[in-house]
Amino acid sequence: MEIYVLSLLLLGVLVLTETWAGSHSLKYFYAAMSQPGLAKPRFISVTYVDDQQVLSFDSDRESQSTEPRTPWIKQEIPDYWERETQISREATQRYRMCLQKVSSYYNHSEGGVHTYQRLSGCEVFSNGSFSRGFVQYAYDGQDYLALDTETLRWIAGNTGALNNKLKWEADQSVAKYWKGYMQEECVYWLHRYLENGKQTLLKTDPPYVQVTRHTSSDGKVTLRCRAQDFYPAEISLTWLRDGEEQLQETELIETRPAGDGTFQKWAAVGMLSGNEQKYTCRVQHEGLPERLFLKWEPQSSSVGLSAGVITALLLLLAAVIVGVVIWRKNTSDENRGSYITTESSDSAQGSDVSLTAKA
Ligand SMILES: *[C@@H]1O[C@H](CO)[C@@H](O)[C@H](O)[C@H]1NC(C)=O
Ligand SMILES: *[C@@H]1O[C@H](CO)[C@@H](O)[C@H](O)[C@H]1NC(C)=O
Repeated sequence: MEIYVLSLLLLGVLVLTETWAGSHSLKYFYAAMSQPGLAKPRFISVTYVDDQQVLSFDSDRESQSTEPRTPWIKQEIPDYWERETQISREATQRYRMCLQKVSSYYNHSEGGVHTYQRLSGCEVFSNGSFSRGFVQYAYDGQDYLALDTETLRWIAGNTGALNNKLKWEADQSVAKYWKGYMQEECVYWLHRYLENGKQTLLKTDPPYVQVTRHTSSDGKVTLRCRAQDFYPAEISLTWLRDGEEQLQETELIETRPAGDGTFQKWAAVGMLSGNEQKYTCRVQHEGLPERLFLKWEPQSSSVGLSAGVITALLLLLAAVIVGVVIWRKNTSDENRGSYITTESSDSAQGSDVSLTAKA
């Protein structure tokens, strides 16, 4: 306990000197799931710092241990892993019981397909100071209870949660515990993770954006603005028509993980053929020095690429011809001839590479 308080004091000093671009969050996801034929509900927990998964635990795994999900967390000391594993194992028991109890509030029989989830965590401003905390529960995918951190009241998602709400509000220590936890312990861990993982956590990958055009069988045209390879997940894609935002007309998919730690998203807008040039896609992302504005280009990048390849091939052909001519001129001196040929094809390869890179 003393060590912990000391760390917080040290941290106070750290906060004053350090700034992290943008706000940051630490999130814990818990889920207990029951299923017919399963003796005990399965329990899973995952921990995220910003949009990066850091830890995971699964009661189905043989190890029954909390495991690293990102390279930098592996540097944590053995005590850390013991503590995390202990927390996860206890949570497994507790959330199995909670699931049973909450199911009974809904008059659901034991052993059906049911889930009980919790999301908790905190956010800090870019200067490192606490910005907000949250704890919310869900049963069968519906809001169950959420803490209003201002009033310390629990907000019930539906009547099934009322019983539990009254219970937790009769004893203010539950809400007070959470409030203290969010502002201190959660912020302590978030700072520690941001410090240890700063090389990947604080790195931004700007989106690679492309506008593609699609025609449906009835002749309607869709322009799709696709962003990929970006981190963090927060991004804004907006279609503008003659400078005006087309929010109603835009189909936007939820930002999705690519699986390699980066994210993808697209926004599509429909129009009559011939109007394509009136539309601009506006992209905002932390990794971009300024907003991007993109239009559909009839000479799409694939055409550009093949033009580049053709040019490269022509250059290569020219180089070969020159080489052959030079070689012929120098048949009397074989060594010199082959030397010049090699040099020519080298330079042709050089232009090939640079053209491909540009395209
Ligand atoms: C569960 O059953 C009891 C008794 O039949 C009833 O009073 C209660 O409203 C039911 N709860 C829900 C959430 O349907
Ligand atoms: C940190 O930033 C927030 C929001 O920008 C501000 O309200 C707060 O006072 C700042 N805290 C410190 C210690 O500078």
